[in-house]
Amino acid sequence: MIERIKSGVPGLDRLLDGGIPKGKVIMVSGPSGSGKTILAAQFVNEGIKNNENCVFITLEAGKQKLIEDLQQIGIDFSQLERKNKLRIIGGPVGHVKYFKEKTKATIYDIADEVKEVVLEVSAKRVVLDSINLFTMLFENDLERRKALADLVAVLSSLNCTTLLTCEVKEGSPRSISWHGFEEFVVDGVIVLYRLPFGNKYERAISVVKMRGVNHSQKVVSMAITKRGIEVYYDREPYHDIIKNNHNGG
Ligand SMILES: Nc1ncnc2c1ncn2[C@@H]1O[C@H](COP(=O)(O)OP(=O)(O)OP(=O)(O)O)[C@@H](O)[C@H]1O
Ligand SMILES: [Mg+2]
Repeated sequence: MIERIKSGVPGLDRLLDGGIPKGKVIMVSGPSGSGKTILAAQFVNEGIKNNENCVFITLEAGKQKLIEDLQQIGIDFSQLERKNKLRIIGGPVGHVKYFKEKTKATIYDIADEVKEVVLEVSAKRVVLDSINLFTMLFENDLERRKALADLVAVLSSLNCTTLLTCEVKEGSPRSISWHGFEEFVVDGVIVLYRLPFGNKYERAISVVKMRGVNHSQKVVSMAITKRGIEVYYDREPYHDIIKNNHNGG
């Protein structure tokens, strides 16, 4: 039996039949604004509540922007960092690229950097938001896939559970990742949807894959409120996701 840890979103734990499989590397994918960063922050916040140290690596926005955005849903990352429970690695979007060019670093160096900070903090939960910029550093899909697989292997060897976020293109059918291979490299995939229905959008979530564990196959409704993501386990979205095969819009 694989041990489960609470995701920070109770309805998602029900979809997962108990929670996120401990020690695994899970991808959260969805179009822009679908709630990936918020879900990742709730995952970290839950860990800290349980006395687990966490690392949040943001490649998308700067650290300050991340902190400000999360204040809107009642999560205070700056306070958690001051209490030494959380290490936020942020900076300008180009940081990883700069690092790679400057030092002619390879994926192993970048993975080593991640490993170093995870070990230093003894982190039990790690977030990398997002992997799009990371995979973009590599020349072609073969290199990208290998780089991501190597990163996943490093993270899997550490004593932590990891969420990687992945932005997908709006409106592209069946897309649960950007390049189309990321889902094969990770242990599990949670997809966030933002779907047109009538003259508005609705939000939904499903667990698309979770190696070695039983999980619900349902697509269910969710909302983002001032308390963050809420998943409604018993409510299906109006938009027929499977039939219309359409994510975003
Ligand atoms: N306090 C709030 N109340 C309601 N909705 C909110 C609140 N704060 C944020 N949101 C919603 O959450 C969305 C942002 O979520 P989040 O940043 O997690 O998305 P994302 O998937 O990470 O997007 P991106 O790919 O652009 O980084 C906002 O666009 C908004 O719709
Ligand atoms: Mg985000």
